[in-house]
Amino acid sequence: MINAVERKIEQYIAELDDAYVSSLYRKLPQGKRLRTKLILKIAGSDLKVIKTAATVEMIHAASLLHDDVIDDADTRRGSVSVNASEGNKTAIMMGDILYSKAFFELTSISPEVAKVVSNAVVQLSLGELADVELSRKFHTNREAYLKMLYQKTASLMEASSEAAAILVGKPRIAYRQYGRNLGMAFQMIDDILDITVDSQTLGKPALHDFVEGKVTLPYMYLYEKLESSEQQKLAGLHRKRLNKEDEQWIKMKMAEHKIVEKSYTEAKVLITEAIALMESLGEKDLSNIAKAMIERGF
Ligand code: FPP
Ligand code: MG
Repeated sequence: MINAVERKIEQYIAELDDAYVSSLYRKLPQGKRLRTKLILKIAGSDLKVIKTAATVEMIHAASLLHDDVIDDADTRRGSVSVNASEGNKTAIMMGDILYSKAFFELTSISPEVAKVVSNAVVQLSLGELADVELSRKFHTNREAYLKMLYQKTASLMEASSEAAAILVGKPRIAYRQYGRNLGMAFQMIDDILDITVDSQTLGKPALHDFVEGKVTLPYMYLYEKLESSEQQKLAGLHRKRLNKEDEQWIKMKMAEHKIVEKSYTEAKVLITEAIALMESLGEKDLSNIAKAMIERGF
């Protein structure tokens, strides 16, 4: 059924009747299609469900195109990013095209679904702005970071689950909560993998988040544990190109203070809640998706 979603996106792109846009779309790596998997598992494969998943994936792709411009990224999912190969202007416009076409199609699905998904795009945008602001200087503002994480990553998963529930008359609040927890945990685990997985496997430089300016939860927890001279050292490395020695120092201190375990436990709380919620509704497949997320590796 995931194929039906791919075909629907291709149809939407073909309707734009623009050979360059079609060729750009073909070059985009597809990714895990996690939001589609959630939507299909919750709501089956009715045409409206397929359309909802297609619009959500187009919005997600649009947001990543813009994000790569904002982050000045060279790669996306192991391939050269559109901003790097075609330039920022093309990447921005391709994002705008995908987003606006998705929004146009969304309005013919259902007003309620359109409302839920478009609200998530507002949150996404607020989250990305907050991310940029929080990345400017070293900070330990956990509350602001978690709010940003919710907006930037969890909101679209939350909306995907809620929209799917609306389409088939399932209890929307429960599914919304499930999507939200999954989204928060997904990003928290992503933040951990940025520290634990080697750069070749990850397809981006080691400790990339911190170099980019992103003070993720593990760095905040580490800062709390360090002595004051070490705290200064860590804050001083923020947004710097790290040499091997600095990199090893951060990883050693993370290991010494069991930071990865602490961060992982936090993500696990959210996953456990999501699993319990779905098991109470008899949604075995959805609870398995949550289980697989906590075991995620590369
Ligand atoms: C990736 O974050 C970015 C997002 C999940 C959301 C980006 C949202 C926008 C640019 C605003 C919405 C815009 C439109 C057109 C819908 P990351 O940089 O932490 O992750 P990465 O490692 O995957 O780049
Ligand atoms: Mg990015």
